Amino acid sequence: MRTQVAIIGAGPAGLLLAQLLHVDGVDCVILEKHSRDHVEGRIRAGVMEQGTVDLLDRIGVADRLRAEGLPHEGIRLAADGDDFRIDLADLTGGSRVTVYGQTEITKDLIAACERRGVPIIFNAEGVTPHGIESAAPNLTYEVDGEPARLECEIIAGCDGFHGVSRSSLPDGVGRAIERIYPFGWLGILADVPPCDDELIYANHERGFALASMRSRTRSRYYVQCALDERLESWSDGRVWDELALRLGARAAAAMTHGPSIEKSIAPLRSFVFEPMRYGRLFLAGDAAHIVPPTGAKGLNLAASDVHILADALIRFFHQGFDDGLATYSRRALARVWKAERFSWWFTGLTHRFPQTDAFGRRMQLAELDYIRGSRAAQTMLAENYVGLPLD
Ligand code: FAD
Ligand code: PHB
Repeated sequence: MRTQVAIIGAGPAGLLLAQLLHVDGVDCVILEKHSRDHVEGRIRAGVMEQGTVDLLDRIGVADRLRAEGLPHEGIRLAADGDDFRIDLADLTGGSRVTVYGQTEITKDLIAACERRGVPIIFNAEGVTPHGIESAAPNLTYEVDGEPARLECEIIAGCDGFHGVSRSSLPDGVGRAIERIYPFGWLGILADVPPCDDELIYANHERGFALASMRSRTRSRYYVQCALDERLESWSDGRVWDELALRLGARAAAAMTHGPSIEKSIAPLRSFVFEPMRYGRLFLAGDAAHIVPPTGAKGLNLAASDVHILADALIRFFHQGFDDGLATYSRRALARVWKAERFSWWFTGLTHRFPQTDAFGRRMQLAELDYIRGSRAAQTMLAENYVGLPLD
């Protein structure tokens, strides 16, 4: 088989890139390690920046998001149970975010690929890139034990943090820069109405908590927990009790308890691999960088990477210019590092760190109180939360 762009991974980065290329007449094929059910079922992100929504609009895949997504014009911050509002729209000249599950975006994009005839090869095992330093790379893989080979001109590594793209680069061609946090997030999904119309990010002396949602009838909540915590020791009852304590009395009074339909623990990490290109292999999304989820930036960064990459590839294939490919890594990284900074800062402001002493705790509370009273400080938070411009 032969194509112009071989995409590894059918997560948000790979699926979005495929549609952006397809609508502009560039040929691509996606190779995905897991089954369609597995890919569509992964519960992850929930908050989309306007730029991500606009990108889905550009490829004509935003209809269901427009109908079912929840536009949010503010978020709430709580310090030891006392909360206040950040008016995102007022502080940013009208920008807002949209609450819509990553599962739903993934389903919409896979359906679009199916409708438009963009091939996705699910259950592709042992995907291996070859010849990335040449102008004619290829990928080998197996489906149902049958070996196969995909010839291409460009490889897009959209295969997430544990994918094969980054790990197949030769030693010494790039550098990984990372910070690992000494805690995780325990998340639950439950079919109960959210406790507030907006998200609540809470700093509490017992640790961080977040009240989020997927719809008016489905809630998503998180509590900070130790990395070695066992899921079995967190009964639903214990999670609800902890949320009520950390989110404060107002949220607790409005909270509807119910059985969890999903429960998992995710570690927190900041990670950047630079540059995001080697030869004919381009990294995008979680394959190149990870942020702690506090700023809701991961999926949105995957979208801005592939926005830049798609425009560069369209120029390359239609006009023969490789200037966009040459500047891809620099342009993408400039935005990535700002989102890394915001996610790191927001994590530091809201979480309990093992080494935090009384002084450190007072610094967090003083900063939250400063944000509460300062339009300038709120503006910094708001413009990062709704998403910085592409350049
Ligand atoms: P992935 O979604 O990881 O997709 C990679 C794909 O590649 C997968 O389908 C995988 O199966 C496939 N793959 C892997 N290896 C191979 C291989 N060897 N061969 C072929 N295929 C392969 N982000 C936000 O923007 N907002 C949020 O609110 C938010 N909340 C989050 C909450 C949690 C609890 C977590 C864990 C993450 C959250 N994120 C959020 C982050 C977001 O989910 C990720 O940044 C996003 O999924 C990245 O998309 P991606 O396509 O780059 O990678
Ligand atoms: C979510 O709803 O999963 C979510 C929302 C906001 C975040 C992280 C996760 O910052």
